[in-house]
Amino acid sequence: MSEAQATNLLAFPHADAKSTARTAGLSCDPCSLPIQQQLERIAPSDATVLIIGETGTGKELAARQIHERSRPRGPFVAVNCGAFSESLAEAEFFGHEAAAFTGAQQARPGWFEVAHGGTLFLDEIGDMPLHLQVKLLRVLQERQVVRIGSRKPVAVDVRVVAATNVELEAAVQSRQFRRDLYYRLNVATLRLPPLRERPADILPLARHFAESYAHKLGMRGAVLSATAVRALQRHAWPGNIRELENAVHVALLMCRNGVIDAGDLPIVLRSGEAPDAAAADETTQVLRGGLLRLLESEADALYERVERLLVTTAFEHCSGNQVHTARRLGVSRNVVRAQLKRFGLLDREPALLDREPADDLPERDALVG
Ligand SMILES: Nc1ncnc2c1ncn2[C@@H]1O[C@H](COP(=O)(O)OP(=O)(O)OP(=O)(O)O)[C@@H](O)[C@H]1O
Ligand SMILES: [Mg+2]
Repeated sequence: MSEAQATNLLAFPHADAKSTARTAGLSCDPCSLPIQQQLERIAPSDATVLIIGETGTGKELAARQIHERSRPRGPFVAVNCGAFSESLAEAEFFGHEAAAFTGAQQARPGWFEVAHGGTLFLDEIGDMPLHLQVKLLRVLQERQVVRIGSRKPVAVDVRVVAATNVELEAAVQSRQFRRDLYYRLNVATLRLPPLRERPADILPLARHFAESYAHKLGMRGAVLSATAVRALQRHAWPGNIRELENAVHVALLMCRNGVIDAGDLPIVLRSGEAPDAAAADETTQVLRGGLLRLLESEADALYERVERLLVTTAFEHCSGNQVHTARRLGVSRNVVRAQLKRFGLLDREPALLDREPADDLPERDALVG
């Protein structure tokens, strides 16, 4: 029996071998087990699920597991809610009739209709534009969609699983995410902890990836040396399971005779301590010192001052680009937009927003001044 089989690899007795391989998830850490049990309890129902977790923690995998364990059903359709321009998004989600707008030559079903009888995975739900949130709420309540250009509602039987890597509550507070939609989506919540909070998962996952990539690469097998094991256990894994998977994949390509050594791992893992970690630590100390001085100074509205400084500095660093700023801060673009508006930075120069980083610094300075 392989190590992956010996540990707690989720198996789906009703799924075919291919989909089982695609959706099987490993979890061994005591912190992961209750989550896996929760997933198994939630999955067979029709309840809408909100999955919360940092990047690479396995949100999509969990959504697929929920789908596989639902009652017999149709397709699993994954859609990134931030991927469409605001003008296209409505047609993408709800469909359109022929000639409903310029360029709409043929009628097209939206994602809800495509997912009929199955699961619609709404990834990065925090990035859904506000005007679409109202429509999504209506579809969830009425279980029917109306295509653009039509008046006829179409019934849709779709289980919705949404995912976010930011706390949606903050977006609700700043009125960038509708509270009623938040409650409607948050019927069942699955919080996936980052890998650093479930260290006992690191090695079984690493061995699982080593085995499966060795198989794909036509190798007879792969093992981890003691130094590789130590390097893997020491790392903080900011990119979580995806980072671990990529690290093992790269190491397999580098290693000799199927033995993964510390030297085969990506450089950030090799040097005892991640170089960034020491620098981050020092920066945190400097920041903390500054905050303490501010606290001692009895300055007013400290929270707002610090928040403003963070957002405007990030916005400046990202050359006035909202999408990049949001990514850098690890929040949704809606949150960034709301903050910029609150700090009066949106009203001044709307034409400059959303552009790619450019080198026209004088304009940017005008924005963040
Ligand atoms: N428990 C697990 N067992 C095995 N593989 C896993 C597990 N969790 C995640 N993975 C693998 O890690 C990778 C990242 O997972 P996934 O894409 O589901 O993460 P995510 O949270 O959706 O990431 P992002 O926020 O970046 O979209 C995938 O290749 C997935 O198969
Ligand atoms: Mg994902």
